[in-house]
Amino acid sequence: KRGAGKMEVAEPRNKLLHPSPSLPTDPALYSGPFPFYRRPSELGCFSLDAQRQYHGDARALRYYSPPPTNGPVPNFDLRDGYPDRYQPWDEEVREGLDHLLRWLLEHRGQLEGGPGWLAGAIVTWRGHLTKLLTTPYEQQEGWQLAASRFQGTLYLSEVETPAARAQRLARPPILRELMYMGHKFEHYMCADKPGGSPDPSGEVNTNVAFCSVLRSRLGSYPLLFSGEVDCTDPQVPSTQSPACYVELKTSKEMHSPGQWRNFYRFRIGVGLDLTARKGICGEGKGKMESGGGVPLIRSPAFPDRHKLLKWWAQSFLPGVPNVVAGFRNPEGFVCSLKTFPTMEMFEYVRNDRDGWNPSVCMNFCAAFLSFAQSTVVEDDPRLVYLFSWEPGGPVTMSVHRDAPYAFLPTWYVEAMTQ
Ligand code: A3P
Ligand code: MG
Ligand code: MG
Repeated sequence: KRGAGKMEVAEPRNKLLHPSPSLPTDPALYSGPFPFYRRPSELGCFSLDAQRQYHGDARALRYYSPPPTNGPVPNFDLRDGYPDRYQPWDEEVREGLDHLLRWLLEHRGQLEGGPGWLAGAIVTWRGHLTKLLTTPYEQQEGWQLAASRFQGTLYLSEVETPAARAQRLARPPILRELMYMGHKFEHYMCADKPGGSPDPSGEVNTNVAFCSVLRSRLGSYPLLFSGEVDCTDPQVPSTQSPACYVELKTSKEMHSPGQWRNFYRFRIGVGLDLTARKGICGEGKGKMESGGGVPLIRSPAFPDRHKLLKWWAQSFLPGVPNVVAGFRNPEGFVCSLKTFPTMEMFEYVRNDRDGWNPSVCMNFCAAFLSFAQSTVVEDDPRLVYLFSWEPGGPVTMSVHRDAPYAFLPTWYVEAMTQ
């Protein structure tokens, strides 16, 4: 009787007897109290340079340097330098967890939490966890997460879905430019040295990244994850990471109270949505809104309500306290800035029937981690348990050996085995 009513009539008999485990994602199922989430602490960091080479230091970290508040309003031309001074990261390269694994290999002897800590931990990118957090509210883009257990540790690495790949390859020029503009904003807001001034005259090279490696715990699941960090604020009294980190975002300028309300609750530009993906450090975040009000892809009938939710999820996980938004006009100029403290974002939607709820996000994530921990039973770096999700359905699982899904590199497995 198990799963009866849900099973397809055409399913083979052995599948009826052993239905694959699945996990529902309906928000209503996860609205309990906020679960325990350990205050994230930074274990270390690494940098990727203009050639995407790994360095076990903070050389790519930049310093928050906003324009003086008593000066003229900002007037940042986000399209300046496009496309001549743009070196985009090659999205065809499948990096998986490699950079994080390299950091882990070099630091596995010094991990806090005792010798057995890593064996009980989950290792992944922050961006993958962000996707889990927003899943109960996501209505457009599915995901696939490959999971392998090795020496006890559960590793999670995202797989680009065929739909996401098709979208990426067909990305319209306006979206390419919008992606550039988001990074260009960072060059107006950050300096290379503490106390220095931004120099937006250079190239925008999206190979460059500074990544923080963090430790936390969700419920009973210890986490080790890494996330790309935009900059550090040298003015913050406690220069303790991650409390000094700042996340930068761009968004479409708003004029009416209604537009602001929609910004908190809905995605801006509803009805004119563009979708795109990016995979920098496994840090792709789904979608961005349309720029310049140019309708290219019509959104489905339901609006996407979750722009602020995505900002919250991305920064809450690593404990980044502030998101600084630059609002751009239709000509692509940022003329106003606003700081959103991560811990205050939920207040904008707390009393909103159509709002999002952080408890739902975290409870679902905990449920997924529990699901993964109990499903991924065999300890074998070449075995992949592939979790797949499409909006409207449950998370399902299938098992694969070796290519193309296995993602723990031989150099890592061999070094860890010695
Ligand atoms: P904006 O978010 O300001 O648009 P991050 O904000 O995570 O530091 O990412 C920096 C920029 O990378 C983004 O700036 C955006 O331009 C681009 N980007 C990030 N995620 C993206 C996605 N899913 N699709 C398209 N572009 C993305
Ligand atoms: Mg960033
Ligand atoms: Mg940013």
